[in-house]
Order: sequence, then C-alpha cells, then structure tokens
Amino acid sequence: MLRTLRSGLPADCDALYQLEERCFDDDRFSRRQIAHLLTRANAVNLLAVSDEQRVVGYGTLLFRRNSVTARLYSFCVDPAARGSGLGRELLQALEDAARERGSQRLLLEVRADNRVAMGLYRRMGFIARRWLDDYYADGCAAWQMDKRLEVSETLDASSIE
Ligand SMILES: CC(C)(COP(=O)(O)OP(=O)(O)OC[C@H]1O[C@@H](n2cnc3c(N)ncnc32)[C@H](O)[C@@H]1OP(=O)(O)O)[C@@H](O)C(=O)NCCC(=O)NCCS
Repeated sequence: MLRTLRSGLPADCDALYQLEERCFDDDRFSRRQIAHLLTRANAVNLLAVSDEQRVVGYGTLLFRRNSVTARLYSFCVDPAARGSGLGRELLQALEDAARERGSQRLLLEVRADNRVAMGLYRRMGFIARRWLDDYYADGCAAWQMDKRLEVSETLDASSIE
C-alpha cells in the first residue's frame, strides 16, 4: 500500500477520532481533544494517508516553551496497516520533526503490557527510565521512555582550531 506522510489539518478531526477507536480499547481522545491538538501551535501532528486518502496512522508531538524535550503524546497505526513498517517510518518522521524544532530529547509513556510498541521504541533507541504505577484508566502501569536526539551537523572547518 502506498502512503504519504503529511501534517494534520482541522478537517482531519473525524478521521483521527475513528482511527483512535480502531486502535485503542480505552484512554482514547475525545473529538474535542483531537480538535484542540490539531489547532495547537505547540503540537506537531503527522498523518499517514493511504493512496485512497484514508488516514492509516498518526502521531502527535507536544513541545513546551523553553524546553528541549518534546513529548510523543499519541502514536498509532490502523490495525489493517500494521506490520508493514509504517509505525517505524512514522516514528522516524516524528523524531526528525522534533529535531527540526530544536528538541534534544524525545519522551513518551507506553503501557507496560504493550510489548509491540515497547519493542519498537527500544529498537529505535529509546530507553525505559521510569516505572509509573497505575498510569492508565484501567490501572495498568506505564514505562516512561526517552531518547536523546543527536543533532546531525556537518563540521564547519572554520570552527576547528
Ligand atoms: C505500535 C504500532 C504503532 C506499530 O505499528 P506497525 O505499523 O505495526 O509497526 P511496524 O510495522 O513498523 O513494526 C515495528 C516493529 O514491531 C514489530 N512488530 C509489529 N507487529 C508485531 C507483532 N504483532 N508482534 C511482534 N512484533 C511486531 C515489527 O517486526 C517491527 O520490528 P522492527 O522494529 O525490528 O522493524 C501499532 O502496533 C499500534 O498502533 N498499536 C496500537 C497503538 C499503540 O500501542 N500505540 C503506541 C502507544 S505508546
């Protein structure tokens, strides 16, 4: 399946709400929360769209003023589109977007029983830092994980002494 990545627009609210319904059993965003995320200045929403213009994945980054840490606030792929590399591609693009905004660290929380997501995060270089008891609505704990975002810079010869 061909898919492209693009920024989210206010008009994507319904599509994201339906995607969340397909992806999460509980702890989902309301339409109002999604609409807010899509219009927030300090958020980046990246959508994966199929060639039939169906939203098949998305991730949201949140940024805070005066902070070099970005937070991965939401991240999911449509069950029908999983296992084909889209999650990894989307996560890489979100990481790149955080770097472009000057972030030096990416932080996230993941359900302690979510082996697939944790495996992906680990293989992408995230490290589990903190155990958060009773973090989700159903009482499940979370791991807080983070990744240092290296700034790729070309050495400027004039700055070498
Ligand atoms: C986590 C999620 C985004 C991964 O999406 P995806 O498109 O299937 O991811 P990919 O196809 O890129 O696979 C990522 C890795 O997970 C592995 N993987 C995917 N599905 C798997 C499964 N069911 N069992 C074991 N490994 C699996 C892949 O082999 C791949 O391994 P790699 O890192 O060595 O390449 C998706 O499963 C999802 O949306 N889950 C529900 C929502 C969720 O948990 N979001 C994260 C909240 S913190």
